[in-house]
Amino acid sequence: MQIHPTIDGLRAALAANPNARVALVPTMGNLHDGHISLMRQAREHADVVVASIFINRLQFGPNEDFDKYPRTFEADCARLEEAGVDHLFAPLEAEMYPTPQHYHVEPNPAHTDMLDGAARPGHFRGMATVVLKLFNIVRPQVAVFGKKDYQQLMIISNMVNEFALPIEIIRGETCRADDGLALSSRNGYLSAEERVEAPRLQRQLRRIRERIAAGERDRLRLETEAVAELAAHGWQPDYVSIRRRSDLQVPAAHDDSPLVVLAAARLGKTRLIDNLEI
Ligand code: PAF
Repeated sequence: MQIHPTIDGLRAALAANPNARVALVPTMGNLHDGHISLMRQAREHADVVVASIFINRLQFGPNEDFDKYPRTFEADCARLEEAGVDHLFAPLEAEMYPTPQHYHVEPNPAHTDMLDGAARPGHFRGMATVVLKLFNIVRPQVAVFGKKDYQQLMIISNMVNEFALPIEIIRGETCRADDGLALSSRNGYLSAEERVEAPRLQRQLRRIRERIAAGERDRLRLETEAVAELAAHGWQPDYVSIRRRSDLQVPAAHDDSPLVVLAAARLGKTRLIDNLEI
């Protein structure tokens, strides 16, 4: 695997193989099996796989975990190498943002002022800005993002459509630990006791899916019960919400569009998110 700290270096390396179909998998590092499964999916869709590792300050709020976000570069490189990734783009901040970033992608507020966007103002603007910049740097034909960050994936898909970017977006399934907890770089913040409690979030989502499959129509009741159940076990829930998959809007009573249930809740100091298509 070639490691490129600069845009010019990466572009020169990719130019050596101009007809190759290139897949990009953007990450912020601290890679786990979920990321590696995205790399493997990228390989199925492309001749050349490029991963990026960049902890994007623009998508962190002032009181969020930018400074303590885990930085595990050596271990990440070893995992990417083992997964058969061809190129790693790993710029320093001075390379990505040599001047302050004055131009930003402003996603549709109907897609950002809710769910995770409501709790993290500016997060999706910073995320979409860096993703567009990475797309411009790498010029991939394919990009792979995990469904674990469902709202992020929806916003990226809409950005690609509205800017007519010639990029196919592949949606990677969420990888889970044996007890159901969705893999996340932030799981490492959990204490041993919290780690035992953490799968409750996924269990609540599964319960909602089962109740809907069994004919329950009162979505608000299901959401409220799940929030109460989490709170009763020491969580601070942000939301548990049943939405349309396509645009994450609240479905009308007789809307039979495909649905997804999404949740975010704080366990101790760690904010966990998860979702399940229903
Ligand atoms: O999902 C992430 O890790 C980040 O939001 C991304 C897409 C790499 C942009 O910084």
